[in-house]
Amino acid sequence: MANSPSGDSMVERIVRILATFDSGRTAQTASEIARRARLPVSTTHRIVSDLLTSGLLERDEDGMVRIGLRLWELTTRGSRALGLRELAVPFMNEVQREIREHTQLAVLDEDAVLFIERLSDRGSGANITKVAGRLPLHASSSGLVLLAHSPGDFQEAILGTPLRPVSAETITDPRTLREKLAEVRRLGYAVAPGFIESVSTGIAVPVEDRAGRVIAALSVVMPRGHEREQTTISALRRAAAGITKAIEDANFVSR
Ligand code: PHB
Repeated sequence: MANSPSGDSMVERIVRILATFDSGRTAQTASEIARRARLPVSTTHRIVSDLLTSGLLERDEDGMVRIGLRLWELTTRGSRALGLRELAVPFMNEVQREIREHTQLAVLDEDAVLFIERLSDRGSGANITKVAGRLPLHASSSGLVLLAHSPGDFQEAILGTPLRPVSAETITDPRTLREKLAEVRRLGYAVAPGFIESVSTGIAVPVEDRAGRVIAALSVVMPRGHEREQTTISALRRAAAGITKAIEDANFVSR
């Protein structure tokens, strides 16, 4: 793949272009994309034009550039996230019916939690989680579960990075986080009251594959002060066990 004078490959440039889109910025001009991707305007116009031709990007009726449906189609149908999501959704629905708050499924991706599904009820409380959105490991209940069950050297690497606050109650002290992770392993679940937003509590449990490896976290986000902690944990554990069984029955491979 041809490299640019700055040394980045065509694939890297395409990824930089696609990464300028997020849930708050779904439509842009090619010049805006160039600025945000830190690429020359002419290069960006050329690549954007090719991506429009292939359908990976689309132009809307205002002439703005958006992520194309074709890109969603190609990336979704072969992805391991979709397989896990499909197996998990029936069990997430059961949690949803019983608890009637937001229910999420998340996996570890690099140094963050990546959410692959979110179910919400009309009238559910605040929740910043988005499908295909990320949250920091140390701040969210799902992240705490995934981090607590990660290899020791990975945990140490995260504990050694600046633990940035998301809210006033996020754990930012490595020693406190280490204790919290030990508690999550001991209890088998994580409670994160106000760690993301002061008004809500996240509660998460691990989802294991058939070999007992933690491959995902299942969580509920509920209004602070109305947690119904034991009922929620029981519902989450039942669902997580159901997902593990479904993974086994489907011979699903998480990696
Ligand atoms: C959590 O998982 O702890 C969490 C996630 C999103 C929120 C609140 C809490 O908005």
